[in-house]
Amino acid sequence: MLNFEYKNPTKIIFGKDTIGKLATEIPATEKILLLYGGGSIFKNGIYEQVKTALSSHNLIEFGGIPPNPEYEVLMKALEIIKSEKITYLLAVGGGSVIDGTKFLSAAALYKGENPWEILTKSIRTDVGMPFGTVLTLPATGSEMNSGAVITKAETHEKFGMGGPGLFPQFSILDPQVIHSIPPHQLANGITDAFTHVLEQYMTYPTQAFLQDRFSESILQTLIEVAPMIMENPFYHEAASNFMWCCTMALNGLIQKGVPTDWAIHAIGHELTALYGIDHARTLAIIAPSHYRYNFETKKKKLAQFAERVFGITTGSTEEKANAGIDKMEAFFHSLNINTRLSEYVEVYDGTAEKIAKRFTDRGWLGLGEYKTLSPSDVEKIVKMSY
Ligand code: NZQ
Ligand code: ZN
Repeated sequence: MLNFEYKNPTKIIFGKDTIGKLATEIPATEKILLLYGGGSIFKNGIYEQVKTALSSHNLIEFGGIPPNPEYEVLMKALEIIKSEKITYLLAVGGGSVIDGTKFLSAAALYKGENPWEILTKSIRTDVGMPFGTVLTLPATGSEMNSGAVITKAETHEKFGMGGPGLFPQFSILDPQVIHSIPPHQLANGITDAFTHVLEQYMTYPTQAFLQDRFSESILQTLIEVAPMIMENPFYHEAASNFMWCCTMALNGLIQKGVPTDWAIHAIGHELTALYGIDHARTLAIIAPSHYRYNFETKKKKLAQFAERVFGITTGSTEEKANAGIDKMEAFFHSLNINTRLSEYVEVYDGTAEKIAKRFTDRGWLGLGEYKTLSPSDVEKIVKMSY
């Protein structure tokens, strides 16, 4: 096991009918900016619950944060934060609204001229404006981590940011929010969480027995509950397990003491930036090719994954590892998630070269757990996914 430090200050409030607890989580002295997305919260009753809970608070609103939160839209919210002297942010939404809120938390206190630098220069945020979240879509884990991913619509770029100042102070996780999520978004959430675990697990063995089993248990639970929630999002126990899996998949716990990969995400973000493909679907496109391309260095963990998660106990390491990749792909297909770029984009020629060039230009010359995947390797992986 590798050395590590672990601190996660986010308070989780989990369970049925917990949104009302907002009233006591945010001090009455704060001036709050409530941030939300395209309006799903008006249709499913979450907005009313939030407004009722905060009826005695000083609150104004900013809506319209799009999926893959856009810098251009967020800059309008930043103006409001400054002109209205906001002191506290409240995100009510999925990963996009929460990530947008994290950007605003950082940008509100940023001393530089141009907040886009926080993304392009990887400026770490040690202190941000305090914020809390009401999670409406289990998927990203953003509700209990300190990272965010922001898109610049103008240039079709998508960059990550983060820092210890960007953990939510609290996140409310009421599994009943799942009732109104459309099936394709539920499938996205399952796929995203599943891949988050893979990015922190599918590397090389380090005798981190407990971390491996944390990861395998999240994968197995997701596989178990996926058909249940896809069939019936009102099945509360399945929804609860799904929601908690998504949070646990990316709150930092399972990555401690182990190497991590994250190449699938780095490449996937480019597919979203270029073509607007849903985040989770980009991961399902890249993951199978990534594992096939890096088969030699990952085969031991792939075989362990096949054995422990899918119960494949016969065959050589290579046979089990291959079966593991096939099973993973079949799992994505079982959620109606396509795993080929050509199934999403009509004209995809040149995509691999474009992404490789972007990585070269940015100096991203070594991805993966060994930091050895070059832009030319990335080009080959993307081509394999056509
Ligand atoms: O915008 P509204 O109208 O609210 O609708 C949203 C949106 O259209 C809808 N939705 C959310 N909750 C709902 C609901 N519809 C009905 N009922 C509900 N209860 O779902 C749509 C997608 O929402 P979005 O927030 O975009 O989805 P997701 O949570 O998958 O977030 C994706 C973003 O998170 C980033 C991704 O890159 C992407 O930008 N990620 C953030 C991470 C992090 N901060 O740790 C890690 C991830 O790997 C990921 O990169
Ligand atoms: Zn993800």
